[in-house]
Amino acid sequence: MNHVKSRIDQLRQQIHYHNYRYYVLNDPTISDAGYDALMDELRALEAAHPELITPDSPTQRVGPEPAEGFVKVEHPVPILSLDKASDGPEIRAWWERVSKFMPDDAPPPTWVVEPKLDGLTVVLHYEGGLFTLGATRGDGALGEDVTGNLRTIRALPLRIPVVPDGPEPPLRLVVRGEAIMRIEDFDALNERQIEAGANPFANPRNAAAGSLRQLDPSVTAARPITLLCYAIVDADGPVPATQWETLDYLRRLGFPVSDYNARFESLDEVIAHCESWVEKREEAPYEVDGLVIKVDDLPTRQAMGVVGRAPRGGVAFKFPGREATTELLDIGVNVGRTGALTPYAILEPVQLGGVTIQKATLHNFEDLRRKDIRVGDTVIVRRAGDVIPYVVGPVVETRTGNERVYQLPTVCPSCGEPVDSSGEEVAVYCTNVACPEQLVRRVSYFAAVMDIEGLGERTAQRLVDRELVQDAADLYYLARDDLLALEGFAEKSADNLLAAIEASKERPLARLLAALGIRGVGSTVAQLLTEHYHSLDALAVANRDALEAIEGMGPHTAGAVAAWFARPRNRTFVDKLQQAGVKLEETPAETVPGASDEGPLSGLTFVITGTLSRPRKEIAAEIERHGGQVIGSVSGNTDYLVVGASPGGSKFRKAQQLGTSTIDEVQLQALIGSQA
Ligand code: IVH
Repeated sequence: MNHVKSRIDQLRQQIHYHNYRYYVLNDPTISDAGYDALMDELRALEAAHPELITPDSPTQRVGPEPAEGFVKVEHPVPILSLDKASDGPEIRAWWERVSKFMPDDAPPPTWVVEPKLDGLTVVLHYEGGLFTLGATRGDGALGEDVTGNLRTIRALPLRIPVVPDGPEPPLRLVVRGEAIMRIEDFDALNERQIEAGANPFANPRNAAAGSLRQLDPSVTAARPITLLCYAIVDADGPVPATQWETLDYLRRLGFPVSDYNARFESLDEVIAHCESWVEKREEAPYEVDGLVIKVDDLPTRQAMGVVGRAPRGGVAFKFPGREATTELLDIGVNVGRTGALTPYAILEPVQLGGVTIQKATLHNFEDLRRKDIRVGDTVIVRRAGDVIPYVVGPVVETRTGNERVYQLPTVCPSCGEPVDSSGEEVAVYCTNVACPEQLVRRVSYFAAVMDIEGLGERTAQRLVDRELVQDAADLYYLARDDLLALEGFAEKSADNLLAAIEASKERPLARLLAALGIRGVGSTVAQLLTEHYHSLDALAVANRDALEAIEGMGPHTAGAVAAWFARPRNRTFVDKLQQAGVKLEETPAETVPGASDEGPLSGLTFVITGTLSRPRKEIAAEIERHGGQVIGSVSGNTDYLVVGASPGGSKFRKAQQLGTSTIDEVQLQALIGSQA
């Protein structure tokens, strides 16, 4: 019996540790199968000895029954709000204001800067190292008991320390953190929601908050929530006296802590750091809506006190907003180069992240319908990084009843021909081969991919309007006088454009292939096709089955390629390119330098994920030099996933699902070496 108990303890300790490696450090040290074996053994022992089941067992993350409602919990220390600063001068002004409140005997100030996490604040109670209670922020004084839901978060330690040699925590410890959803997990969750016919979440914050406030923990368990901790709010034993040491201490106990925390000894450095983050925010794997600047020394911060509902010893540096609300005045329709019609929003002009916007994309008609966006609605618009602003959804509460439900277009807004919305896809298509807007898009797309400088959408529009081009191949037949007759062209600009068009004849075959605009054929597939066929002539006669047999080609794309070359109009187009002297064959120099069909990795397919010691391109080239093949996503045909630090979740998870072998860089080198 005793040895059963000690084996159970040992298994739990190991499983907690492997969860921590996987969910907190992103760096597992055990295979999936190995992990499953530990779990299976633990489950079997617990089934045989139910009296030995304890609440901190990793088998007990999902409790048995849904709650009836949430019980209120009083926070040991109220959760306050924070003052805001939006630029360097405001940060200086904050410090001017509050530094007067530093005690005379305070050490020279240092500051810790942390990401301001955009999720749901949670307060986690540990008694004797066991997670006993977890609450939401609520109104700051009273939160809601969501212990059962929080237990399902794999990154949350059920027992501390998680790490075998971690510090012994005080008997009672209360930690504060933020429950968040990583952007990648959020996107995947939304895809699943849409597939299941449910509404997608507006943003990761809503998804995390909505998931944690589920009455049924089994629903929460299926949602990919994670956690980052940043404060100790109560303890009945010694804990660190600075913020910086607290973060380290929390990390050593096994709590997830952000990798982006930083400590500075001058306000100038704090400000420089904040400013550099405005650009960097897109790189973070989770939403960061600003930074929190905190006085590092905790007794000093405490002594500085509170003004209103905000502590003086901290300030939130807010990034420029990415969302705004405005009125949706009307819905316009674009025609893409494939003939697909897409709606866009015409907005009451609004300031967003420093620019005025009056148009935003609406993705597609299905999205419009699903979100029930109506003309006249107040809508939320959002702009992330350089991405074109898009409409997140309507603010339903402000409807007056005068909003109008949008009707799908029945004719193409460009050519007036009836549209086709009969396909299995939700898209609406203009099938008129002579539709001018489609042609403009195809020509400007061709020019962009072929790198013809000076041929943007506006010039393409003018060429189409004047009927100087019927397809992109006509670009190679333009005369100088044709261009001079166009608005905006003088002798010099006309000559420059002609020279750019001429130069584009020599682009690599893969580039030309991508420029054709065949559905599904971007640069990666184009490269794949080039490697197999080496010329447009050879590709043109390839049949669908042969195309589909190429590793990395999907059936839809294979079909699209075959169909494209089967159309007489496209054959004519290719003939015109040939006549004009556009290069339609691969020259040997274009293959990856040194790529080889023979070598220790011959016949093996690799996918790379995470951060490696060298640029991925270099690693890929090395694999190819040794005969291996590198592709973009994990499938049943992948032999190895090469994993670096912080691997992207989806490739990694897919590899685990499929049982694909994962190796690190050292193992890759060994593979190259041993089989050489
Ligand atoms: S600590 C003196 N740190 O922002 C510092 N709060 O606090 C006091 N929040 O709802 C605040 N990320 O939950 C702190 N790294 C972080 C945070 C953070 C997000 C939230 C917090 C609260 C609000 C104001």
